Amino acid sequence: MSIRFDQAAGTLSPAGPTLTRRMSDLEGLFRDQNSWRTAVADGDPIVYSVVSSPVPEIDRELPQSITTIHPGTTGGEFWMTKGHQHPNHQGEIYLGMSGNGGLLMFDGKDTRWVDMAPGTIGYIPPGWAHRSVNVGSEPYSFLAVYPGGAGHDYSWVLENGLGQRVWRQDDGLAFVDYFAEV
Ligand SMILES: [Fe+2]
Repeated sequence: MSIRFDQAAGTLSPAGPTLTRRMSDLEGLFRDQNSWRTAVADGDPIVYSVVSSPVPEIDRELPQSITTIHPGTTGGEFWMTKGHQHPNHQGEIYLGMSGNGGLLMFDGKDTRWVDMAPGTIGYIPPGWAHRSVNVGSEPYSFLAVYPGGAGHDYSWVLENGLGQRVWRQDDGLAFVDYFAEV
């Protein structure tokens, strides 16, 4: 089968399910909860969307999706995906398509950060929780390819964090430990 993707628009054709994550869906994830509550009350903006291909998320299949994270910060922390761990520890690749972002990974002990731009493949080894962050001023889009039986555990991140947080500082980035007071 053939699936076409539009690199500029961040769409797949034919498309499967589409997921839209608003600010209210990211409860408990931003360090500054007051700023998060204000953003939810002030229009509850869309933070990111995920367009899937029709390939099903079942064992031995190899689904794909395109995630687009809008630019922005909440309490100084860059907009990001919820992040997840694969309950069935399996690897995954992300291919940068447009904009500038990063791939944050955490294995419960060590943290890794991969700068993502168009043409970069970010590799997520089995057992590493992962989150994507838009660190630019344009939408950041990437293609994900992952084993259909890997699953998505979002509660793992709420319990364990992701090692570090990514903040806007002047024109660049700053990293702080996930559970640190700031
Ligand atoms: Fe994943």
